[in-house]
Amino acid sequence: MKYLIANWKMNSIDIEEWQNRFNKTLKLIKKDIEIIVCPNYLDIIKCSQQAPNLIMAAQDVSIHDDGPFTGQISAYQLSRSSEQLKYCLVGHSEVRFKGDSNSIVKKKSQKLEGCNINSILCVGEDESILNKGEREKFLLNQLDSYFQDGLCPKFIAYEPIWAIGTGIPADKKNIDDALKIISIFLKEKKLKKIPLLYGGSVSSKNVEEIMSSDILSGCLVGNASLDGEEFARIAKKF
Ligand code: PGA
Repeated sequence: MKYLIANWKMNSIDIEEWQNRFNKTLKLIKKDIEIIVCPNYLDIIKCSQQAPNLIMAAQDVSIHDDGPFTGQISAYQLSRSSEQLKYCLVGHSEVRFKGDSNSIVKKKSQKLEGCNINSILCVGEDESILNKGEREKFLLNQLDSYFQDGLCPKFIAYEPIWAIGTGIPADKKNIDDALKIISIFLKEKKLKKIPLLYGGSVSSKNVEEIMSSDILSGCLVGNASLDGEEFARIAKKF
């Protein structure tokens, strides 16, 4: 099974137009690809009305259950938003930038698990960590602090910060090296096999090469997912 996730971030998307362009290009979705879309909180409701077959993920969640937390949404509220909402991103670098530590990422996942929403755990280093040769230590630290107390995400996405939004994805060797670090970690901890994804400037032009890696089960796509037609082209090449 392969997984293709569209992270729309805070971009405004005309859902009907996106769907039309997507469906026009990809007439038949192969049975072995699961397509997941991450709209903003408001568009989760709109998507479930306008695209009743779309599986969705939220982009973030609160660590709190309820109460005076202005601007936040709880896992319970997400779980009631739409039956099509099955997943939520945790640990995306753009949310970590705002202050989410490893322990907050873990707490968010615990809240989601309590509401039957699967976590998509994002990990990845920035350029200075890569250049200092500290990627392995950094990734293992992100993973180690997450995988305690029996917590288990549905996917792990390796998203090097230095490749996100640049138009230039990580090269195959860098992707393979990072995925190996993650796979060995999971094996050593005797954790079940978790599908590994890559994210960072994936497009229809580079997806074939990226997906040629044996350990990769899919991609998390930002910019190139905003146009339904381009996103369908990526799906076609899976
Ligand atoms: P990008 O974003 O494809 O625009 O690089 C990926 C992501 O942030 O998940």
